[in-house]
Amino acid sequence: MATEAPPLQVSNLSVRYGVVPALNDVSIQLREGRILTIIGANGAGKSTLIKTICGLVKPVAGEVRLFGENVVGQSPDLLVAKGLSVVPEGRRLFGEMTLLENLEMGAFSRTDQKAVKRNREHVLDLFPELRDRLSTQAAKFSGGQQQMIAVARALMSDPRVLLLDEPTIGLAPAIVDRIAEIVTTIAQSGVDVLLVEQNAEVALEVADYGYILEGGAIVMGDEADTLAQSAEVQRAYLGI
Ligand SMILES: Nc1ncnc2c1ncn2[C@@H]1O[C@H](COP(=O)(O)OP(=O)(O)OP(=O)(O)O)[C@@H](O)[C@H]1O
Ligand SMILES: [Mg+2]
Repeated sequence: MATEAPPLQVSNLSVRYGVVPALNDVSIQLREGRILTIIGANGAGKSTLIKTICGLVKPVAGEVRLFGENVVGQSPDLLVAKGLSVVPEGRRLFGEMTLLENLEMGAFSRTDQKAVKRNREHVLDLFPELRDRLSTQAAKFSGGQQQMIAVARALMSDPRVLLLDEPTIGLAPAIVDRIAEIVTTIAQSGVDVLLVEQNAEVALEVADYGYILEGGAIVMGDEADTLAQSAEVQRAYLGI
């Protein structure tokens, strides 16, 4: 039997901003049914990797394969239609718009309104704390709730692959735990998850395996448990 192509495969990806290198020969693979994390400090290139995968930044070399298809050069909208969705860094909600309108924006490419409505119910089941506040302006929610809205909006396109760029940054520990729990639930529902984080502790708890990104290059990759036991990772990222 032929093996299925992985949901996401990045090969030898290099990105520059002008002459400044941001990613250098990055190769990662997101395997079906597993949560992958990329851990990196400020400026390591995490957001650049996410933006390149989702078509916002063009690489100078390398490939991004979504279910086997090289999608480099395709527009972000087309990639959403092909099952890729992103929770961007800093959430980027439409603050003046209501929660419901933000969710509708997440489903902009879909035409089957019945399916969208079912999808919305499913998303609100995931976030019961949002259900009764659909007509509240997004900007009025707490930071943790806004992050939940960003995740909920990303799920409104019914993705097969979800990329999350530092969803826990700046949030109180209890909310970080809630976000971690939600990411796990999303993965269990059959969505393949790539979680980019500076918070190695939560990332390695949630993920099955991970890579360490330093100065635009992958310097280590292993099962999450193994990374968490590594003396180098403990010293540089876990403060042990
Ligand atoms: N639009 C841009 N133009 C020029 N340089 C950029 C641009 N965006 C990012 N960079 C540079 O590229 C490198 C990687 O940035 P990137 O935002 O991908 O890092 P990051 O790991 O997401 O950092 P953070 O944890 O702060 O979000 C940094 O040196 C950054 O200054
Ligand atoms: Mg970033």
